[in-house]
Amino acid sequence: MFPERRLRRLRKRQMQPLFQETVISKDDLIVPLFFDETITEPMEISSMPGQFRYPVSMAAEVCEDICNAGLRAVLLFGIPVKKDESGTSAYERDGVIQKTVRAIKENVPEIVVITDVCACEYTDHGHCGIIGDTCDGTDLLNDPSLELMAEIAVSHAESGADMVAPSCMLDGMVAAIREALDGHGYEDIPIMSYSTKFSSALYGPFRDAADSGFSFGDRTTYQMSPANGREAVLESKLDIREGADIVMVKPAGIYLDILSTVAALGLPVAAYQVSGEYSMIKAAVQNGWLDEKAVVMETLTCIKRAGADLIITYYAMDAARWLNEEQ
Ligand code: PBG
Ligand code: ZN
Repeated sequence: MFPERRLRRLRKRQMQPLFQETVISKDDLIVPLFFDETITEPMEISSMPGQFRYPVSMAAEVCEDICNAGLRAVLLFGIPVKKDESGTSAYERDGVIQKTVRAIKENVPEIVVITDVCACEYTDHGHCGIIGDTCDGTDLLNDPSLELMAEIAVSHAESGADMVAPSCMLDGMVAAIREALDGHGYEDIPIMSYSTKFSSALYGPFRDAADSGFSFGDRTTYQMSPANGREAVLESKLDIREGADIVMVKPAGIYLDILSTVAALGLPVAAYQVSGEYSMIKAAVQNGWLDEKAVVMETLTCIKRAGADLIITYYAMDAARWLNEEQ
């Protein structure tokens, strides 16, 4: 074919934008946020430099800044005052997330508020629901935890959340939450399911951030093995059948093969660039080894190219600033 076919003809600098297939927009990005009921000042997360836990009193202000940067969606995590065996503070009317959602919706109603629905920040053992005796020893109990998730999701909707995002990886979580939301008159609240969530070592820094580390065992009996591709796709298929509105692949960057397969299932897909993905880039940047803007935009572009409609990323605010500077 050479020299007739010269791909460099269309790569002239001036023409490059005309042929760019994938463009990151601020509308693709969701900002994860941590609200901590026990603090009164922002607290930097040591394993995630540049990321903070905020007091509930700052919820409106933080969301105003996000809107001013041109972003429109946040994903909320809470750190409660008290934890117990069954995660009761996760669904209290005056729980940390419930208060935070109300504050945001009163002051910045235009922002889309998505809440993480899980119990690991609220249980004293740090697992994602109710634990008890199983054939595997003491472990997360599936069906008893479903009621807890349903209760958490309904309490978030009652506080004004626009969307709920269950992350516990229990079998049947989407169906249980859908039924409970519908039963309480919230049939219009969408569910973004953490449908394909791997049991990843990249969640390490998050467990600092959200104080959600577990006191025994691990999460491999509910989260997915990184080695299993077919099962990963099946997880998202089942959640679609149960009524998920958006499915998710998490982590993002090292699971792009799964992401592209899940995107072909037909529903909108979110990808979560997780804490460890943020911290790896940040650490290298702080050592002067990587160009932060270039690397971050490359990772986001590739995640979108692989099929993500939405990207949850701790770099959302930086990316918005970089995109705004280019306008
Ligand atoms: C809790 C939850 C985790 C993350 C989101 N929700 C951690 C875990 O499952 O242990 C990880 C997010 C991140 O690492 O940024 N269910
Ligand atoms: Zn959890």
